Amino acid sequence: MANTQIENIFPGGERICATEEDTRQAAHDLAACLSRDAILSLEGPMGGGKTCFVKGLAEALGCDPREVSSPTFTLIHEYHGGRLPLVHMDLYRIETQPELAPLGFDDYLASDGIVAIEWGDKFAEELPARTLRLVFSVENEGRRLQIRS
Ligand SMILES: Nc1ncnc2c1ncn2[C@@H]1O[C@H](COP(=O)(O)OP(=O)(O)OP(=O)(O)O)[C@@H](O)[C@H]1O
Ligand SMILES: [Mg+2]
Repeated sequence: MANTQIENIFPGGERICATEEDTRQAAHDLAACLSRDAILSLEGPMGGGKTCFVKGLAEALGCDPREVSSPTFTLIHEYHGGRLPLVHMDLYRIETQPELAPLGFDDYLASDGIVAIEWGDKFAEELPARTLRLVFSVENEGRRLQIRS
């Protein structure tokens, strides 16, 4: 993804999202520019808006956003039926690197479509160099989304 595109969507590398709707809109704007091998690491505290952002991605790609939930027992969800496949992972409950392989982690990273990984920073060294990091923080005015490539 070109730096000028990132700058258009995240001026100065960030965006304040006052509402859930704004967070989903940020996901829409980003989805329009993502290549089909994009990997997103979604980082920041519980309740930061990571799952909300994935709902926006699903919506933007034409998958059903109602299917997107916080994966409590299932750590990985795949959504088909949209413009591109979407894989949604949540690594919150994964504690060590050897737990990743049995999940098919590497295969998902290499699969066709967009891969969005909540708590990706826990295993940053396992993520390819092309990974885009989105860092969520809670602010008085809502959520701050910072993008780092
Ligand atoms: N601007 C905003 N963007 C996103 N969510 C917001 C915003 N303002 C308030 N919220 C609320 O914050 C919560 C975000 O929840 P969400 O499940 O997306 O967080 P999360 O980062 O995925 O957390 P977890 O690490 O527990 O999975 C929701 O309850 C939502 O209603
Ligand atoms: Mg979540």
